[in-house]
Amino acid sequence: MLRTHTCGELNDKSIGKTATLCGWVGARRDHGNLIFIDIRDGYGLTQVVFNPKFSEDLHKKSEELRSEFVIRVSGKVERRPSGTQNPKLPTGQIEVAAESLEILNKALTTPFEIADDAAVTEESRLKYRYLDLRRGSMQANLRLRHKVCKSARDYFDERNFVEVETPILTKSTPEGARDYLVPSRVNPGMFYALPQSPQLFKQILMVSSFDRYFQIAKCFRDEDLRADRQPEFTQFDIEMSFVTEDDIYDISEGLMKKLFKDAIGYDLKTPFPRMKYADSIAKYGCDKPDIRFALELVEITDIVKACQFKIFRDVVNKNGKIIAINAKGCGSYSRSQVDALIEFVKEYGAKGLANFKCDGVRLVSQIDKFFSEEELDSIKKALNACDGDMIFIVADKKRTAYDAMSNLRKHLGKKLALIDEKVFQFLWITDFPLLQYSDEDKRWVSEHHPFTSVHPDDLGILEKGEELDKVRARSYDLVINGAEIGSGSIRIHDGKMQELIFKIIGIDEGEAKLRFGFLLDAFKYGAPPHGGVAFGLDRLMTLFVGCDSIRDVIAFPKTQKAFCPMTSAPSAVDEKQLNELSIKIKT
Ligand code: AMO
Repeated sequence: MLRTHTCGELNDKSIGKTATLCGWVGARRDHGNLIFIDIRDGYGLTQVVFNPKFSEDLHKKSEELRSEFVIRVSGKVERRPSGTQNPKLPTGQIEVAAESLEILNKALTTPFEIADDAAVTEESRLKYRYLDLRRGSMQANLRLRHKVCKSARDYFDERNFVEVETPILTKSTPEGARDYLVPSRVNPGMFYALPQSPQLFKQILMVSSFDRYFQIAKCFRDEDLRADRQPEFTQFDIEMSFVTEDDIYDISEGLMKKLFKDAIGYDLKTPFPRMKYADSIAKYGCDKPDIRFALELVEITDIVKACQFKIFRDVVNKNGKIIAINAKGCGSYSRSQVDALIEFVKEYGAKGLANFKCDGVRLVSQIDKFFSEEELDSIKKALNACDGDMIFIVADKKRTAYDAMSNLRKHLGKKLALIDEKVFQFLWITDFPLLQYSDEDKRWVSEHHPFTSVHPDDLGILEKGEELDKVRARSYDLVINGAEIGSGSIRIHDGKMQELIFKIIGIDEGEAKLRFGFLLDAFKYGAPPHGGVAFGLDRLMTLFVGCDSIRDVIAFPKTQKAFCPMTSAPSAVDEKQLNELSIKIKT
């Protein structure tokens, strides 16, 4: 090595030793006769001092140094004079008194300062990602990501799981997003799809008797991007044979316990609580509730179904829902505070937000004249309202009412400081619906994916083919602090049942054969009962690091427009390449 130590390694135990460090020039401070520089690498930074008393030449050479030059410096490790020590830095007690200096490479002036607090746009960070990754926080994030992967691999290995790499050039797997397609040169007009997940391969591995599979798998999905979504992302992907839900929960909880301990020293309590999908919707309005705080929703459709308030009655007559929340202690909210909340719910499609203040004895509101005393009293009781509380109500189509109120609940939780930010609250959501009707496609689609088993109690409804929205699945999601971190199910392992599900979601026999014939064929040769789950590594990392965007835990992420500003991918390709692929671009 060109160095004896890294820039984060020297401390007061190293005093008196001679050290050679390599790294990048950080801050440079010229104190007249003394020049100080910080030399930085991926491990930390060390202060180097150039003293003209030691060598005039060296001191002169140090004046050539500019930010981000790559240098090699040797010298004695000395204690910093008292009063100049930095207790926040592991190397803060010492400095290296330079005895030699070599400039290994020069650097242009960087477009932004290499510092965690530098004011820089995300666009610039992504364009100059190699510089952004030099910053301490990004170094820490990616090094922690490595540690988390290592910890997961150890966990699986100790439990007899086998890591199997599944293909990247493959056939389309339906996970609800569009596929990224790759044209085949040797099969003109044919395309591979990049995997949206290794779902089908991991199930086939079960047929091949690899009864405990895992993979740190890259997945590719062409979907609308958000802070928690990337077009390519990584899953801890798991599949097991001869298991029930409890076995999957057990393995997953053990994994989470180890990862949280190893990554951030956080002790998790297991088992995690479980909640049925229907209960989650009723209490929180969504399938990924943040249960660090209560503030539960209450459906009051029945209480107000006969009231004189036309808006509520119309909603009831159209099979809509009337959902209320008790904003504890918000009875003193001003008109403008209430108006702001009305605007808030409108962003989620609600037409309005009724409000009732509890004055201790009864509920008062601009619209209270449309309600009988019994109705007002029943609302008050249902919401457990006390003096000084404010009840907010949305009446709308079921989905809109729950969506708006679920978001209002989260908003109020933050606003009223009800959330303990130091806590990680896990929750399994179970018993999801198997199917949902897509108004856009005018057909039933799978809520999770089409390989999910039916809840045994609902087989009858499925076979009848009526009220398909009532059929539950043997599927589950793992939610942490209101974010979906993982998802899985017990799978169908019976070819006939798989064919029935394909039929229900509009994939006829011919198409099923064409797209999934290999899976149906595999099922004919002894498929064991099996199930699995996949966790989003990028989302887990954001929890460990405490950042909002998964772009901060991915080395080379894409923008919201699926663009890489550093490489300018995606980009046009030349005519020759297109010809070889038998592709013509429509203009
Ligand atoms: P699912 O599609 O729910 O299930 O994905 C599992 C987990 O992957 C993460 N995730 C994402 N992370 C970042 N960007 C994205 N675009 C993105 N999409 C999903 C989430 C999610 O919970 N094959 C099934 C799993 C199974 O049934 O075993 C699957 O992929 O954290």
